[in-house]
Amino acid sequence: ARKAALGPLVGAVDQGTSSTRFLVFNSRTAELLSHHQVEIKQEFPREGWVEQDPKEILQSVYECIEKTCEKLRELNIDISNIKAIGVSNQRETTVVWDKLTGEPLYNAVVWLDLRTQSTVENLSKRIPGNNFVKSKTGLPLSTYFSAVKLRWILDNVRKVQKAVEENRALFGTIDSWLIWSLTGGAKGGVHCTDVTNASRTMLFNIHSLEWDKELCDFFEIPMAILPSVRSSSEIYGLMKAGALEGVPISGCLGDQSAALVGQMCFQDGQAKNTYGTGCFLLCNTGHKCVFSEHGLLTTVAYKLGRDKPVYYALEGSVAIAGAVIRWLRDNLGIISTSEEIEKLAKEVGTSYGCYFVPAFSGLYAPYWEPSARGIICGLTQFTNKCHIAFAALEAVCFQTREILDAMNRDCGIPLSHLQVDGGMTSNKILMQLQADILYIPVVKPSMPETTALGAAMAAGAAEGVGVWSLDPEDLSAVTMERFEPQINAEESEIRYSTWKKAVMKSMGWATT
Ligand code: G3P
Repeated sequence: ARKAALGPLVGAVDQGTSSTRFLVFNSRTAELLSHHQVEIKQEFPREGWVEQDPKEILQSVYECIEKTCEKLRELNIDISNIKAIGVSNQRETTVVWDKLTGEPLYNAVVWLDLRTQSTVENLSKRIPGNNFVKSKTGLPLSTYFSAVKLRWILDNVRKVQKAVEENRALFGTIDSWLIWSLTGGAKGGVHCTDVTNASRTMLFNIHSLEWDKELCDFFEIPMAILPSVRSSSEIYGLMKAGALEGVPISGCLGDQSAALVGQMCFQDGQAKNTYGTGCFLLCNTGHKCVFSEHGLLTTVAYKLGRDKPVYYALEGSVAIAGAVIRWLRDNLGIISTSEEIEKLAKEVGTSYGCYFVPAFSGLYAPYWEPSARGIICGLTQFTNKCHIAFAALEAVCFQTREILDAMNRDCGIPLSHLQVDGGMTSNKILMQLQADILYIPVVKPSMPETTALGAAMAAGAAEGVGVWSLDPEDLSAVTMERFEPQINAEESEIRYSTWKKAVMKSMGWATT
């Protein structure tokens, strides 16, 4: 019966910092039919460094595609119905590879990596005017973005220097690395990125939508190694191997942009918050580039087709959200699976005055303070692991409150509710805490994989594919779960102001 009801299918790769997924949707109903997920290793070779293996990332994509196709076959679904594939990815993470061999020339330097702190300090001394980077890119000069990571690789990796001299080096964020590899790699792979990913490199002019020569000169980046910049929805190339060989890759969006599309935030003023490794609140500002006065970024939201207009967003970026749960699991060992955090937190229902500021990679929005480091404070002999677990969840919510406050100040009109998505939203305690701390309702779609959905929508709507219409009416049937604030406003404010005190204590710990 299902077979008869199926429309054309669209697949999406969701390559996040913690895991890779491949998901297949029915383009008529946006129903998720099957998926597979693989966790990705992170390496911490030195304090503050975060690396990943680009080949492991690529392998994980192939593995997820193959496993998902097997599951579809078991459901009697014909995989030849998959008409397009979209890619969404962790942004900023920087890869340099050899175009002749297809081999990465260094590990991927992950967005969270802090090794470029001194590079940033040195660059900020010779910046030609305070607004030079921000006015062109919408971004503050920070370790977060690709340009400084690429600068570090060019300065420190002999193999890369040699490959650049011999015109063999290619640079890309994860989307570029994947699309190049999946469309043939050294045998004719397509070297491209989309406007949303490009807008996170600090080399891209968000007004002209082109690589910026002055920025490339400032960061001393050879423009020949940069990918071509395309829209977020067009055919880039065809899959060259595996179960989906021949299927066009026709959607590409940084994961936070993909979630904005997947949540159907197409109108000026619509916003979503995604809880992944980090936490990212994006508000669509339409065709206008709005520059924040309160520590938010201006970024390209999406451009859904070569001839379609560009949309921008204001973004509040929090570096550590799900990553704090992984840290409690892998570094402290107080939980053995991420899901256990909810059980521990529920046992106590309060942090008992314990506050946890997980500033592992400094603090991002609204502070942009690289010298901050994580602290747990307010401990007594009574404090146990359940309180710490609770404080970790609360930290995610307080950080969201900080960026929501900044967003409200920048936009002038406070958000009346918060649309959320991402893996952590299945944690009901977290969702209730979030509503309590924001003091507005939190609304989540019953299908939380909106990042993948957004990439699938872009791929399915591309010219030459045309199996998905981007009409908000289409998804009006999506069911939502709603969490209302349950504590009183005064208690919410007291907890938030204590959090702020803890944040102040986390500042200035690191020196370069
Ligand atoms: O900017 C980094 C962001 O794209 C990472 O997303 O889903 O891995 O937290 P995620």
